[in-house]
Amino acid sequence: MENDSTEAWKKPELNKTTTDNLMWIEKYRPETLKDLVSQDQIIQTIKKYVDLGGLPHLLFYGPPGTGKTSTILALAREIYGKSFRNMVLELNASDDRGIDVVREQIRNFASTSSVFGFGAAVSGDMSKGGNNYKMIILDEADSMTQAAQAALRRVIEKYTKNVRFCIICNYASKITPAIHSRCTKFRFKPLNQDQIRGRLNYIIKQESVSIDSDAVDAILDISKGDMRRVLNILQGCYLSHETIDFDSVYSVTGQPRPSDIKLIFQSLLNDEFSVCHDYISKVKFTYGIALADIITNLLTPILSCSLPPSCITYLVSQLAEIEYRLANSSSDEIQLSALVGTFKIAVEKAA
Ligand SMILES: Nc1ncnc2c1ncn2[C@@H]1O[C@H](COP(=O)(O)OP(=O)(O)O)[C@@H](O)[C@H]1O
Ligand SMILES: [Mg+2]
Repeated sequence: MENDSTEAWKKPELNKTTTDNLMWIEKYRPETLKDLVSQDQIIQTIKKYVDLGGLPHLLFYGPPGTGKTSTILALAREIYGKSFRNMVLELNASDDRGIDVVREQIRNFASTSSVFGFGAAVSGDMSKGGNNYKMIILDEADSMTQAAQAALRRVIEKYTKNVRFCIICNYASKITPAIHSRCTKFRFKPLNQDQIRGRLNYIIKQESVSIDSDAVDAILDISKGDMRRVLNILQGCYLSHETIDFDSVYSVTGQPRPSDIKLIFQSLLNDEFSVCHDYISKVKFTYGIALADIITNLLTPILSCSLPPSCITYLVSQLAEIEYRLANSSSDEIQLSALVGTFKIAVEKAA
């Protein structure tokens, strides 16, 4: 599969008038399996199953923006071609609907036999196996309660004959073992920077975005392998800046710049409590940065600093606590004091 070159991105064939107002994450959602940059191994394996005519139930898991939804949609399009609409049911488990509604929809869909007995109007290689089953895609399944999952298990069993399920989630651990054991599991990993860069450059060209090269690097750094985040940042910057430079990427995303993190880290190690506290407050206020983002970005300098290992361990465990408390809606103000205090204790320990 071609991954990195901009040349690989001749698609999608988009009708400009209908796509101009679309969010770029939808406009540039890969149409075919070839459009996906990465996850080749997973795609190859699933294609083999399809060729052999026996697609198992699938469980896709992994971080957001790695192509889970796009992969199954592209795969279903290749399997079913024009019959996609008749043969595929897409449900989002995090919609505000109970399992009963979902069960009802699944029952209605699954119990009507497939009109096209043999892989429908299938295109390409995938027509070989007798894919005479329908497909139900259950996205964001980790938001389902245990009770709903237990009900789903029975539904899967009941309709196994003519329906294949593809269950998608971020956290496999939130899916019950009973569903795990009925599915073939695929873990989607974050995209690497080269893969993202190829796709990003293609979109920049398509949309005639004026962007500096260090701004592209900044987007890659911030997005950490999440392609949805890449596209959202690019579109956000494009709408607010004529030319996107390094600083605009950080200001649009509200992320601390690497140079700010460096200065904050120095201050945490060397300055008096109140001086450091005031300095970080000022940076937070000036750039509208959340404390949680500062903490996440402090990990790298902490792990590579010259403090004794016991102090580094102490710092990391305390930071994890502070991050946890922030996630549970403790105030930034109190946790900022806790952060500065933690560093003071660590430096004292090291002396
Ligand atoms: N592997 C990929 N190749 C190309 N684009 C991708 C890939 N993964 C994600 N994207 C882009 O990110 C957006 C979100 O992808 P999606 O498949 O919904 O991710 P997930 O379901 O894993 O959260 C898509 O619209 C697409 O534009
Ligand atoms: Mg998804």
